[in-house]
Amino acid sequence: MLHTIKNRRSIHTFKPEEVDFEILKEIFTYGSYAPTHYMKEPWEIKLYQGEGKVHLIEAIIRSYQRIGMIKDNQELKTIQMIQSLKKFLQEIPHHAVIYFKKEEDPVRYEEEYASVCAFIQNAQLAAWELGVGMLWTITPYMHDPEFYSEIGLEPKEMKIAAVLQIGYPKKIPHDKGRTSIEKKIEIITK
Ligand SMILES: Cc1cc2nc3c(=O)[nH]c(=O)nc-3n(C[C@H](O)[C@H](O)[C@H](O)COP(=O)(O)O)c2cc1C
Repeated sequence: MLHTIKNRRSIHTFKPEEVDFEILKEIFTYGSYAPTHYMKEPWEIKLYQGEGKVHLIEAIIRSYQRIGMIKDNQELKTIQMIQSLKKFLQEIPHHAVIYFKKEEDPVRYEEEYASVCAFIQNAQLAAWELGVGMLWTITPYMHDPEFYSEIGLEPKEMKIAAVLQIGYPKKIPHDKGRTSIEKKIEIITK
């Protein structure tokens, strides 16, 4: 496990084959051993694969257009940009939308969000040990209420924490290393 913590990399390119559902279940089961205050286990997963990706990708593109990241016109440049984004997203074997029920109390909200993040990292580490790659993404459409509605989530009730791209790695990026932790530790003794 210590080796995996250091050697896991975020994966940006995936082989075309899907990961067997039993393996995905195992990965998310490890994820679910994350610490969770009051045993709330706040994580929920919408797993998009195969034909299921089409609706998600359409919703992502419509959201990018609403936000203004992609133009909403019929110009060749726009059409080509949409086509290449669609192809890129379609080629990722699985997309997992990780969400949780919002809490009004800010302390509770942070507890739930923190726990979901721990769930994601546990899942990433388990995936790595099983040869599966992931990319943890946070993107602007996660703040677009219409996007929530389009994928069947009530934006007032639910919060998307991340979208995970999942599959077998095609290319493993090099280790960018980390800042020496000594630079981050301030020892206070009195
Ligand atoms: C909360 C969070 C959001 C991230 N969002 C993105 C993203 O949207 N796109 C992306 O390419 N990488 C994203 N990453 C991955 C980081 O870029 C990556 O962890 C970092 O470059 C270190 O690489 P490593 O994970 O391979 O060690 C995200 C990571 C975290 C923790």
